[in-house]
Amino acid sequence: MASNFQLNPEDEARFRLAAIIESSEDAILSKNLDGIITSWNEAACRMFGYTEEEIVGHSILELIPEYLHEDEADILRKLKAGERINHYETVRLKKNGETIDVSLTISPVRNSENVIIGSSKIARNISDRKQLEQRLIQADKIATMGRMAATIAHEINNPLESVINLLYLARTSGELGSEARGYLLTAEAEIERVSHIARQTLGYYRDTGAPVEVYLHHVLTDILTVYHSKLENRHIVVKTIFDDRRPVMASRGELVQVFSNIISNSIDAMPEGGLLHIQIQEAANLEGGIEVLVRDQGAGIEQEHLTKVFEPFFTTKGNLGTGIGLWVTKQLVEKHGGRVALTSCTDTGMSGTSITLSLPVAKRLVH
Ligand SMILES: Nc1ncnc2c1ncn2[C@@H]1O[C@H](COP(=O)(O)OP(=O)(O)O)[C@@H](O)[C@H]1O
Ligand SMILES: [Mg+2]
Repeated sequence: MASNFQLNPEDEARFRLAAIIESSEDAILSKNLDGIITSWNEAACRMFGYTEEEIVGHSILELIPEYLHEDEADILRKLKAGERINHYETVRLKKNGETIDVSLTISPVRNSENVIIGSSKIARNISDRKQLEQRLIQADKIATMGRMAATIAHEINNPLESVINLLYLARTSGELGSEARGYLLTAEAEIERVSHIARQTLGYYRDTGAPVEVYLHHVLTDILTVYHSKLENRHIVVKTIFDDRRPVMASRGELVQVFSNIISNSIDAMPEGGLLHIQIQEAANLEGGIEVLVRDQGAGIEQEHLTKVFEPFFTTKGNLGTGIGLWVTKQLVEKHGGRVALTSCTDTGMSGTSITLSLPVAKRLVH
């Protein structure tokens, strides 16, 4: 429909401007001095999820989380005074209730008599940048904590190693009676245990050795020995079913760390006691794999926390928690080609948490 239709220069400029606004990547909208939205471009539809018909005529407050409504009053005051607001970083609400991080530039709009009649707003979605910033901060915290833990573990383990050596020398010096030798042997075993626990809890130490064949039922039996007195004090009854005894290829230290994290969480969750069920069986969701199911009767995990528990530093234990247990667990299991699944229930009388870790079985034994 090519036409000889001609626009006057003023209309042409207006159309060109409208086209620029429509094709902009940034959301561009305008509102009057009562905060009612008067225009809305394509990018605003994409960013906030409302169509033009749905939002024009409505209050701008629909896009602002309630705790920020006060700020909007401030913005309006500034605009009425003719001020412009540049690159103001804040949070806005989408139609589906999600929040987005935005950078706003807001300018007063005047009519031909130079009277301010509203404002135009350009919003840029900066969620990606904010997430990246957050990830960098977290990576930095993790690195700092890892270094600190490694230093402490090292500082504690060095003297413990010498004590173990000294006890050994004393025990084998040949001048002791059998009773004294027995005491020293026990002391040696206890110090070994302390050193083991220090490495576990300060954890985060990574076994750098090559993966070896590890039997999960051995690892779990060892961990249950370490936690024996704690479990008994809390009146936690442990029920183990080791149906599958095939080995996995992994670093033993890391697996000890993984299962210690899970079991210590279950112990924390059952201060009044209960049943801790640990089962090793053929994996249901990893072909040819083996899985360990750990189920407790603790208070369970709130629905809204379920997705967060694997994030670093997420803890509901205040100063007593580090929030890295499950995060480290997931990292290590996935590094070995495995998977972690979690279900939890908080209903009184039937509450509890189940974690299933599945791992590939050592190759030569897969038929
Ligand atoms: N077995 C469990 N029962 C109830 N809540 C749990 C369980 N395991 C983990 N959680 C929740 O997940 C959070 C994160 O666990 P974790 O990463 O091990 O850190 P931490 O134990 O230091 O808090 C815990 O603070 C707790 O809220
Ligand atoms: Mg923990």
